[in-house]
Amino acid sequence: MIDIEAPIVGDIRLITCRADKNVRGLKPSPRTMEAIMNDSLLATRKIAALFTPTDLGAEASRDISAALTGVLADTFALYVKTKNFHWHLSGPHFRDYHLMLDEQADQIFATTDAIAERVRKVGGTTLRSIGHIHRIQRLLDNDADYVTAGDMLAELREDNRQLTTFLRQAHVVCEAYNDVATTSLIEVWIDETERRTWFLYEAGRADR
Ligand SMILES: [Fe+2]
Repeated sequence: MIDIEAPIVGDIRLITCRADKNVRGLKPSPRTMEAIMNDSLLATRKIAALFTPTDLGAEASRDISAALTGVLADTFALYVKTKNFHWHLSGPHFRDYHLMLDEQADQIFATTDAIAERVRKVGGTTLRSIGHIHRIQRLLDNDADYVTAGDMLAELREDNRQLTTFLRQAHVVCEAYNDVATTSLIEVWIDETERRTWFLYEAGRADR
């Protein structure tokens, strides 16, 4: 049986067998061993089916995929927080902020597909679920019952600033492997993230 909670290194899930956990101290029978081998082989074939031809090499594929998947998790986290604040805003600037956050959420969401598809183009695999996002996101969620409009803008401004740092780090990884397609996309995403940071900063000045 394949351990679905096995650790992931880059885009590669390490396949382990659970037989030793179930029958600790007992030697698996030849029949069990055969079943384990068949399961492992099947899983290896399934992973191989996701192979994408690329000239970048396995190491580049692993490192770029890991860097982009981290950015993708943070991008989804920021998208949900921006929508959360868009929905739960209150105060005298409601209309302006409500619309600005909706615009920003749309822009953030639009990058998610491009990030994920870059990972697939360089031969890796990426996010599978909300749970997967939660395990690797670096930006923090905000589940508070009430957040003032000023605090919302300040928190999003800081999150976008941090996302810029994560994007720059991913850029360094891609540059090291001469993955020019990803670096040029990242440069656009950095510009968009800096624009959001700027708008959040300027809009937040009114509340100081
Ligand atoms: Fe809306």
